[in-house]
Amino acid sequence: MSRFFSTLLAIACLAPILVQFGCSVPSPMPGDAERGRYLIEIMGCNDCHTPGYMEKGGYIPEEDWLVGDTLGYRNDRGTVYPTNLRLLLNRMSEDEWISMARRMRKQTPMMWVMLPKVREIDLRAIYRFVTFLGPKGDPAPAPLPPNVEPTTRYINFGNPH
Ligand code: HEC
Repeated sequence: MSRFFSTLLAIACLAPILVQFGCSVPSPMPGDAERGRYLIEIMGCNDCHTPGYMEKGGYIPEEDWLVGDTLGYRNDRGTVYPTNLRLLLNRMSEDEWISMARRMRKQTPMMWVMLPKVREIDLRAIYRFVTFLGPKGDPAPAPLPPNVEPTTRYINFGNPH
């Protein structure tokens, strides 16, 4: 009998968790978008472009990925904020995305060294994942010049010595 009740209790406690993580019906994602999801995850784009991703050990639902962040990256050149990629990619064409990734602006805290080396087929998969998710969130704050103290949280990104 007590076994019966503890089982019941376990089900009652687990149900909300199962509903949130296990039982939701996944919407069908095309194969290349699925690969884009994997690439985004292993390339570490969420680390900066998804709020709280690092703090929560990566447990952020994917519908909230890549919406940009108000956590600034500050160095001698000023403070910049991780771009909202959900808005950016969803308003450009796939080919515009390829050429942007090929010619990343240099000398920002962004991984501008990595993106131009990513194979075109992978950049396209990334684009298809981000457009599958669709636009979400607000634009990241505008960059600040060096002499302006950010009113947001920020990381001292440092300068090479
Ligand atoms: C170390 C933190 C960090 C990581 C990791 C990171 N980004 Fe960024 N990203 C930024 C910041 C900060 C900016 C804003 C840079 C600026 O305004 O100068 C940015 C800007 C961008 C932009 C806009 C560039 C432009 O010229 O406007 C793109 C596109 C981008 N990131 C894509 C990515 C992708 C794809 C990944 C994964 C491969 C990634 N980022 C990983 C911090 C990061």
